[in-house]
Amino acid sequence: MSDYDKLVAAAKAVRENAHAPYSNFRVGAALRAKSGRVFTGCNVENSTYGLTVCAERVAIFKAISEGERGFDAIAVSADTDTLTPPCGACRQLIWEFCGDVDIILSNLKGKTEVVRTKVIFPRPFDSSFL
Ligand code: THU
Repeated sequence: MSDYDKLVAAAKAVRENAHAPYSNFRVGAALRAKSGRVFTGCNVENSTYGLTVCAERVAIFKAISEGERGFDAIAVSADTDTLTPPCGACRQLIWEFCGDVDIILSNLKGKTEVVRTKVIFPRPFDSSFL
């Protein structure tokens, strides 16, 4: 039983709530705060397409808007054989709020992989440039 089993299970469970009638591509995310609290999110699509928000960003915005700060892992789950990684926009947000953390990718068949933010998001723009 890995340290991340509960986080992956939370990402899989919240994926069921995805509002994805346009792509039928359902994603769940579970963000773990250093406090131990877990914030979940699913993708929420819109008929305009462009207003769609990814699961990862929903989880992050829920946590930030609840006053939480400091995170050490985020799990992402989708029903794909090749594990689904966060999109570019979500990588930027993960860097902003989580920094270089473990990102646990998983699918519904039990396949998992842990990647680090810095590996999938090299040379980021951030507040250090402002
Ligand atoms: N999506 C996510 O929620 N997270 C990802 O990591 C990849 C993509 C969503 C956005 C859209 O609702 C659907 O998946 C297809 O792109």
